[in-house]
Amino acid sequence: MAHYRAVGELPRKRHTQFRDTGGHLYTEELMSSAGFSEESSLLYHRHSPMAILSAEPVETPVHQLHDNHPVLPRHFALHGCPEGGDAVSGRRLLLANDDVRLSYVAGTETSPLFRDARGDQLVYIEAGQATLESVFGRLPVNEGDYVVVPRHTTHRWVPGVGDPARMLIVEASGHVNIPSRYLSTRGQLKEGAPYSERDVRAPAEPLLDDGTDVPVVVVTSGGLTRYVYANHPFDVVGWDGCLYPWAFSIHDFEPIVGLVHQPPPVHQTFAGDGFVVCSFVPRLFDFGPDAIPVPYAHANVDSDEVIFYTGGDFMSRAGSGIGQGSVSLHPSGFVHGPQPGSVERALGLARTDELAVMIDTFRPLRLGAWALEVEDPAYAWTWAPR
Ligand SMILES: [Fe+2]
Repeated sequence: MAHYRAVGELPRKRHTQFRDTGGHLYTEELMSSAGFSEESSLLYHRHSPMAILSAEPVETPVHQLHDNHPVLPRHFALHGCPEGGDAVSGRRLLLANDDVRLSYVAGTETSPLFRDARGDQLVYIEAGQATLESVFGRLPVNEGDYVVVPRHTTHRWVPGVGDPARMLIVEASGHVNIPSRYLSTRGQLKEGAPYSERDVRAPAEPLLDDGTDVPVVVVTSGGLTRYVYANHPFDVVGWDGCLYPWAFSIHDFEPIVGLVHQPPPVHQTFAGDGFVVCSFVPRLFDFGPDAIPVPYAHANVDSDEVIFYTGGDFMSRAGSGIGQGSVSLHPSGFVHGPQPGSVERALGLARTDELAVMIDTFRPLRLGAWALEVEDPAYAWTWAPR
């Protein structure tokens, strides 16, 4: 998110002495990406962010992954996930490859302090409310929000009261960015992009939390490590820069429609290393004479297509068992398209109220053990007349 923000107290010049009212020198931390060459932020800590008292390995859950073999289109009913646990340790792995891991949780508890050193995390809030608390401050989020948590951000998830916070979590091995074609040469969201800077929310004030001997779980490619910090990491009195957690509501996505069916890239919302994320939101159907509003059968030969169905009526999937909380996987190697009768039912309709999140990966996805538990085995056969 290459848009500058400044929060809390800051010295007039970077890399200069900055003290509290008692004369104590704050510790300046530069959090930077791509080897000091891309986006960064400067954070001012009351205490040293390096002062760890202990470090111990944490037993890492073994995630068995299964090839999608025989290669099949699949349907997973994520609402088979029991409610409970927290949004970090309660995640259930659905699909994964070397670029991305997709998981789901219906969290009701506050998570431990956590930091992902492997890549950015993109969290989609299907239902409920939560607050992302981090070294950057508080970021309240609601149903329909995407939340980008940059790699290395120390954070925790606090669910709201009432219903569980249902989250689809995309753990990237790299960064999650705004598609470059939406950005001007100097980084502004362009006219014609389906969202603008006004739609972006970020922490607005420091979150100061006291405490000593504070555990933080860090995940790297080697597994989980639990540090104990001498002081609470949420001791940042101010920060500024272009690297921070941010949220964007799918309900603020401005759909692009056309005379005839528009391909999924018009719905693109984020770009990752090895994947893209698209938002299908309520919109007018294609309005040309004789236009067919639902997609054609298609083979997207370089992608595995994952769609999370998160609201409205899924016209093209009628009769397939797909509903709220479903995920479909249409892998490379399989031609997919609307279920039988969907085209005829859609003809003449003016609009759709569907809400869905699509994640297209550029390398095949493997199935987590939990995916097999919540799979609907009938889905692959719903296109055939018998
Ligand atoms: Fe597709």
